[in-house]
Amino acid sequence: MTIEVRLTDVRKCIRKKKCRRKTSSKRKPSPAALAAVLFPLQRLYMSCVDVFKGVGTVPSPTDVQKLCHILDGMRAEDVGLSRNLQFFKTGSIIGATPKVACTTIYQSEKFSLCIFFLPANAVIPLHNHPGMTVFSKLLLGKVHIKAYDLVASSNQDDSLSPSQLKLACLKADGVFTAPCDTSVLYPTSGGNIHAFKAITPCAILDVMGPPYSKKDGRDCSYYREIPYDTLPYERVVMSEEERERYWWLEEIDVPKESAMDGIEYMGPQIIEMSSS
Ligand SMILES: [Fe+2]
Repeated sequence: MTIEVRLTDVRKCIRKKKCRRKTSSKRKPSPAALAAVLFPLQRLYMSCVDVFKGVGTVPSPTDVQKLCHILDGMRAEDVGLSRNLQFFKTGSIIGATPKVACTTIYQSEKFSLCIFFLPANAVIPLHNHPGMTVFSKLLLGKVHIKAYDLVASSNQDDSLSPSQLKLACLKADGVFTAPCDTSVLYPTSGGNIHAFKAITPCAILDVMGPPYSKKDGRDCSYYREIPYDTLPYERVVMSEEERERYWWLEEIDVPKESAMDGIEYMGPQIIEMSSS
């Protein structure tokens, strides 16, 4: 897969403005003036530096709004992509489950910025994000997303079902078509466990804070869904209608469809701040 290289004229513009500021004025630029000269990806990065302070950070509603506002306004071109790329014009291959590709724009211990490329019919199997907040912006394409949250339980409840089974509530089950608003998942809400199936070729920009880290206990787990009524365990008193939203999730070995091709990021480069 080839990602279109984008000229970074704006970066040159920033450098020029920086030089001018040094020589012509001692006044600090206002946040609005600064934002006006920053390209969207740089603005996103700088806000992430501001918001994600390390393990345990769950962004405040104001910070969520700030990041969503930037992401909502981002287009594929802002990360060097074009809808005219052959990848996004390719139709589905009947019977095949194509591989997902992933590129990392930026990664620190506090947050990461990645793009996932899903050919038509590709899947990202049901997986979790332990202790993480994730912002997902569908840049191009059409994708089906299913998302669950685990149901908090008391120890007493746990004794009623095998420990490998976790009760989960369905939070999203629908088709998203770009351009659409950013979706956000939190450590224990917003659909922390989700799966994707591409209907057309897709590109999804993810902001993850903090990123996965096996050594820090934030490894990715995968699950299979089991309808609530097919197992004889009762955990919650609920109506018939509610039952349809509840599923058992059973942790499974890493599925082969979860393998991704790593590709090089060729879009605009972030200018790193020393504090990140
Ligand atoms: Fe995910």
